[in-house]
Amino acid sequence: MMNNKILLLPGDGVGPEIMSETVKLLDYFIDNNIIDIVYEYADIGGVAIDNHGEPFPEDTFEKAKSSRAILLGAVGTKKHDKNENIMKPESGLLALRKKLDLYINLRPIFIFQNLIDKSSLKPDVIKDIDLVIVRELVSDIYFGEPRGFIEDNKSAFNTMRYTEFEVERITEYAVKLSKMRKGKIISVDKANVLETSQLWRRCVDDVVSKQSEVTVNHMYIDNAAMQLVHSPNQFDVILTGNLFGDILSDEASMLTGSIGMLPSASLSDNHAVYEPIHGSAPDIAGKNLVNPIAMILSMGMMFEYSFDRKDLSDTIKSIVNKVLNSNKFTRDLSNSSEYVTTSEMGDLLLDELVRNVKK
Ligand code: IPM
Ligand code: MN
Repeated sequence: MMNNKILLLPGDGVGPEIMSETVKLLDYFIDNNIIDIVYEYADIGGVAIDNHGEPFPEDTFEKAKSSRAILLGAVGTKKHDKNENIMKPESGLLALRKKLDLYINLRPIFIFQNLIDKSSLKPDVIKDIDLVIVRELVSDIYFGEPRGFIEDNKSAFNTMRYTEFEVERITEYAVKLSKMRKGKIISVDKANVLETSQLWRRCVDDVVSKQSEVTVNHMYIDNAAMQLVHSPNQFDVILTGNLFGDILSDEASMLTGSIGMLPSASLSDNHAVYEPIHGSAPDIAGKNLVNPIAMILSMGMMFEYSFDRKDLSDTIKSIVNKVLNSNKFTRDLSNSSEYVTTSEMGDLLLDELVRNVKK
């Protein structure tokens, strides 16, 4: 029998709040035998430092390895920010990605029709937006060695590094994905300055030239950042490295009105983590203000990619669409003082789900 165990990592800040709204829906799917899943919890990030003395405890790693998929809330706290160097909550998330070799990070950017006027860009520019950022997730300056503080902390440095193998495997994934879309990849780098980007460009071209269905164009990161707000519709699949992908995905998320709307998947050949692309937002944590939709859509991606249940992912998108169409918004999307809370949004989505399933 196929492993049906998933791991829930609520993490820090708003993580636990968005996770409990997601679990409301997950429980409904499970209790009504719509999907066969069992779940357990573990700690990661700041909460893991507090409870176990480290951001990615062995117990979490063991549970992660034996799970078919992982849902993650958010990682990062104000309190641990003061720790220079080691023991940052974020290093728990980076360790999870690295140890499970989650080299593929997918960040789909799409828009719900009723949010078109929430974007800071003109409706005309964003109305048909549908692109995916394929971000390499386990290399680049995030992980390059050596790194550190030197000269009595008066100086610090990091190493930007890519190997052919790393660029080739993420490109292969982008090509596969692109075949199911428009067959047009835009690869983003800084090859006019960086050797890593020159290697990146060569490897991307090598992989793409071995097949005929997909074509690639190259763009410098500064230009891509500009093009993304100027004419986002020219993009279909954006292929890029860890650091540039981090930055571009925050930028792209804003096209859709709120960073609180966008899910992501981090994949390897054997493991998968699904998480919202937003962070732990400590300033609004614990206040029932956060938008749980990105986390809920991340669960949708899990159903689709890890459980082969695209039908349930579609169901989730459709209930989100219906609730948004009824002009119910959390605070991030509301332009007045009237908004629904995190748990009210969860309840509205659950009501809509029940109506959908009962039909
Ligand atoms: C993201 C986040 C992380 C990253 C942080 C929390 C380490 O910003 O998933 O985009 O930089 O990758
Ligand atoms: Mn980021």
